[in-house]
Amino acid sequence: MNDTMIRKTPIDACIVQKKLQESGLEKVGMASIREIVRLVNEIEKETGESYVRMEMGVPGLPPAQVGIEGEIEALKSGVASKYPMIEGVDILKKEISRFIKNFVNIDVDEKNCVPTVGSMQGAFASFLVACRRDIKKDTTLFIDPGFPVQKMQHKVLGLKYETFDVYNYRGDKLKVKLEEYLEKGNISTILYSNPNNPSWICFTEKELQIIGELATKYDVIIMEDLAYFAMDFRKDLSKPGVAPYQPSVANYTDNYILLISSSKSFSYAGQRIGMMAISDGLFNKRFPDLKRFYKTDEFGYSMVYGAIYSLSSGTSHSAQYGLAAMLKAANDGDFNFVEDVKEYGERAKIMKKMFMDNGFRIVYDMDENEPLADGFYFTFSYPGMDGTELLEELLYYGISAIALTTTGSERSEGLRACVSQIHRSQFEDLEQRLKVFNEHHA
Ligand SMILES: Cc1ncc(COP(=O)(O)O)c(C=O)c1O
Repeated sequence: MNDTMIRKTPIDACIVQKKLQESGLEKVGMASIREIVRLVNEIEKETGESYVRMEMGVPGLPPAQVGIEGEIEALKSGVASKYPMIEGVDILKKEISRFIKNFVNIDVDEKNCVPTVGSMQGAFASFLVACRRDIKKDTTLFIDPGFPVQKMQHKVLGLKYETFDVYNYRGDKLKVKLEEYLEKGNISTILYSNPNNPSWICFTEKELQIIGELATKYDVIIMEDLAYFAMDFRKDLSKPGVAPYQPSVANYTDNYILLISSSKSFSYAGQRIGMMAISDGLFNKRFPDLKRFYKTDEFGYSMVYGAIYSLSSGTSHSAQYGLAAMLKAANDGDFNFVEDVKEYGERAKIMKKMFMDNGFRIVYDMDENEPLADGFYFTFSYPGMDGTELLEELLYYGISAIALTTTGSERSEGLRACVSQIHRSQFEDLEQRLKVFNEHHA
């Protein structure tokens, strides 16, 4: 019998242990997000207790109403029976271009703004083109920690990647570290998310400038994953055409693809629609090696009529109208999409304090000299415990998360918490469980 079984834990320890054994997972701390979801579902079912579920990054807020209405209207007008244009419907392309101008302050021609089946597909299509444009450049560099599914996409595609944890390379140190990789000449693309999943670090302007200038110098394409667009709540990024804007590498290089998800910023994950914006320069650029896979050597044409065509022949017709309606309302200043999701930041602030008051530490805690923003995710550890051990132990206390080691992080002591599914009504339970955990482990 282990310690947790002798002490009375908030969740019946015998059931947790039984379910852990039945799960067949060698080490629960190394399990994928979906495996943890399944395990916790099983424990909840058998115990009748609700967990504080912080493992999965799903929106916890209702979708933007203006999107739903736009989509219903489109369905009523009969779009469901028609194949959409692969490059996207005109009205959406126009609104994506306006959105990028209004909220990033960058000009991208509407022709080069393309809807995708979530940012997930946008990344997959980008890998199919960007990573095959030069026979000598066959490797992606992930600035980690990162979203594990993009590495899975690499494995599925048989593409190579390298990775490093940015924790120790913030600010000027980032330049030296990146050049270590870029000098070798094999890097085709660099990918990072900003704000970052899982750590919620946000690159500073200085860091984005370093990344952008090196992308130009070494002819590397930056895939900037803006899955949490405008969700650095330390600044008000919500006003169209008014600074401050969503920071972007696009200010410092022309070698970029922006991947903007509607899943979190617009709570529209279920409709699987995202935006891909390719810089005007890159869209029209020719790469002879692309002809190995596509009819043409033109980058943008290969993306739309090669990659996206063969993946899904475009993006759901009605979802395109839904997204167009949301973007138009945001562009016209009629809909403050940031205000709708600020709740995540407020939840994170309260929850981080509860963790820290009960002996936990925040792992990724600074953006250079500035304390990290409160947002969709935060990372935590407990002194003296390894992350995988901590994850398993927390299950006895009705709390679930994922281990940072599964995200390319070197901080093996850390876990990622996602705040989106935690309602304020659960805060009391969370606080109580953390308190008991701390009493048992301090
Ligand atoms: C960093 C990152 N990129 C991409 C995605 C996928 O976005 P989408 O739902 O638009 O496919 C996610 C979703 O969690 C994410 O966290």
